[in-house]
Amino acid sequence: MAWTLYNIAKTATQLGGGMALLALLGLYYYQNSIIYPASLNDGHGYCATPDEYDIPYEAVNLTTTDGETLQCYSMKQDSKSPNYTNKTVLILSPNAGNIGHSLPIASIFYKKFGYNVFIYSYRGYGKSTGAPSEVGLKKDADTVVEYLSENDRQYQQSSIVLYGRSLGGAVAIYIAATKSASIDGMILENTFLSIKKTIPHIFPILKYVTSFVHQRWDSESLLAKVSPKLSVLLLSARKDEIVPPQHMDEIYRLLPSDCKEIVKFENSYHNDTVLQEAYWDTIHTFIKDKVNPVGL
Ligand SMILES: *[C@@H]1O[C@H](CO)[C@@H](O)[C@H](O)[C@H]1NC(C)=O
Ligand SMILES: *[C@@H]1O[C@H](CO)[C@@H](O)[C@H](O)[C@H]1NC(C)=O
Ligand SMILES: *[C@@H]1O[C@H](CO)[C@@H](O)[C@H](O)[C@H]1NC(C)=O
Ligand SMILES: *[C@@H]1O[C@H](CO)[C@@H](O)[C@H](O)[C@H]1NC(C)=O
Repeated sequence: MAWTLYNIAKTATQLGGGMALLALLGLYYYQNSIIYPASLNDGHGYCATPDEYDIPYEAVNLTTTDGETLQCYSMKQDSKSPNYTNKTVLILSPNAGNIGHSLPIASIFYKKFGYNVFIYSYRGYGKSTGAPSEVGLKKDADTVVEYLSENDRQYQQSSIVLYGRSLGGAVAIYIAATKSASIDGMILENTFLSIKKTIPHIFPILKYVTSFVHQRWDSESLLAKVSPKLSVLLLSARKDEIVPPQHMDEIYRLLPSDCKEIVKFENSYHNDTVLQEAYWDTIHTFIKDKVNPVGL
């Protein structure tokens, strides 16, 4: 069965499910497997490939500094085409499923908008080796950004736009804060200030045990390091039942960017923002108008 945007919506609730469970059990040792449910949705099972969506691609394995292998799909446009956009979208996955599940989104970026698309599995997800952790996922991001900005000629010359949903938004903020010079635009959807500040919303009583949370994803304190020159689009579901929408408001406020925009989807939950009317137009307009080269 080919995945659709609807399937993507159905699985987006898992960060919340995981955090509620974490909250209930208050577990210190098991929080990695709860916050990063890499096996959900058959995440380690069949992984669809871009050719199933008529997208030409190359399967790439990248090796991290600590020896893990990351499964990646590299989907390049023909750089000789007269309408080549010279832009690349780096998709940063949410916390469940495998990269095959994100192909309906990749397909819109690639086929409808004409952008190069790069997507990779975090360590421990899909066919990547290792086990997920905050430290590890940050090493993975370092490896991928280095590949795109230094090791591959076509990507290196293109403008890179980060697209991060939920946990992927935290990875995007990490990249923007540490590798500003390599990035040209950032799109954040329903992401959080920190894991710690998200838990009490899902399970209020647990505000007393958040000190046990060692997977912090403290985006809040990284935001000041984002370059003012980076254009940012924030997509916020106002009925988000997992991450309070005020987190997105605060991220918007703290971002030093000269060019930032928050678009609010009044009737959207955490899971179904990709299905909202105007969602894709908003994204396309942002990349066309706010990321160089303007107009493509
Ligand atoms: C998304 O979440 C809402 C509220 O939790 C739920 O009512 C709806 O069925 C979910 N949508 C999908 C597509 O799973
Ligand atoms: C990537 O690594 C996997 C196993 O880790 C291997 O099966 C696959 O052939 C490798 N792919 C490439 C393109 O090297
Ligand atoms: C770009 O042009 C090629 C033909 O040169 C065409 O096949 C393709 O659909 C065009 N892409 C877009 C995004 O317009
Ligand atoms: C893409 O943009 C870079 C820098 O802006 C430029 O050097 C390069 O020639 C462009 N590539 C194409 C194929 O337009």
